[in-house]
Amino acid sequence: MFFRQLFEPISSTYTYMLGCEETRQAILIDPVLPSWERDLSVIRGLGLKLAYSIDTHIHADHLTAAYKLKQEVGSKIAGPGLDQLPCTDIPLEEGTPFSMGSVQLDPLHTPGHTDNHFAYRLGDRLFTGDALLIDGCGRTDFQNGDAIALYNSISEKLFTLPGETLVYPAHDYSGRSVSSIAQEKCRNPRLGGKKTQAEFVAIMRGLKLEYPKFIDYAVPGNRECGVCPRDVPEELQQYCGLVGHSPQG
Ligand SMILES: [Fe+2]
Repeated sequence: MFFRQLFEPISSTYTYMLGCEETRQAILIDPVLPSWERDLSVIRGLGLKLAYSIDTHIHADHLTAAYKLKQEVGSKIAGPGLDQLPCTDIPLEEGTPFSMGSVQLDPLHTPGHTDNHFAYRLGDRLFTGDALLIDGCGRTDFQNGDAIALYNSISEKLFTLPGETLVYPAHDYSGRSVSSIAQEKCRNPRLGGKKTQAEFVAIMRGLKLEYPKFIDYAVPGNRECGVCPRDVPEELQQYCGLVGHSPQG
């Protein structure tokens, strides 16, 4: 399998490229709108063709590139079926593996950051989205987030995977790229070291995070699989890859 971890600096998002050697097809997990051309050039450079984009959830901090990539190269849009987005071509559900040639992903419903959030397992790699981050986890105060649900998702579905499973998060804000289930179970400051559900809920309640600056545009835009809303203010247009241009113009 071909594999690349790609970084998008505006929202500090990791996009993952998975390529099948036999079919020469590629998947992008969580592609970000301003980086769509970079991602396609990486795929073309490896002699592959983008077949699918797959999102882990409806993001609040960036726009997915799913719709743009479909427009450009005809890739199909996959994502959590629970979101019931009309723009999704392939709704994913837990218990039904998603296959592209020799690449097989197991979708895992991991609610808590959002109610319909999914992680995807590929053998000994786990793409955790915003459920489990390196030394952290996604926030639980928006989009039907729920700290108890996130604790249960991580402790029952992710921490029960083999310790050597590699954790590839959707974000890192400190330059870290990969971790493991064993490492997060041992030392994640929010829920590693056998922290109880009550301790985790208290930590999440005490975070006092700022209101996400792009959420009011990202969520409606991502409900259309990554359409830049018309009313994005100028200082946020970089999230649409439109700095110096008007949205959709
Ligand atoms: Fe998120």
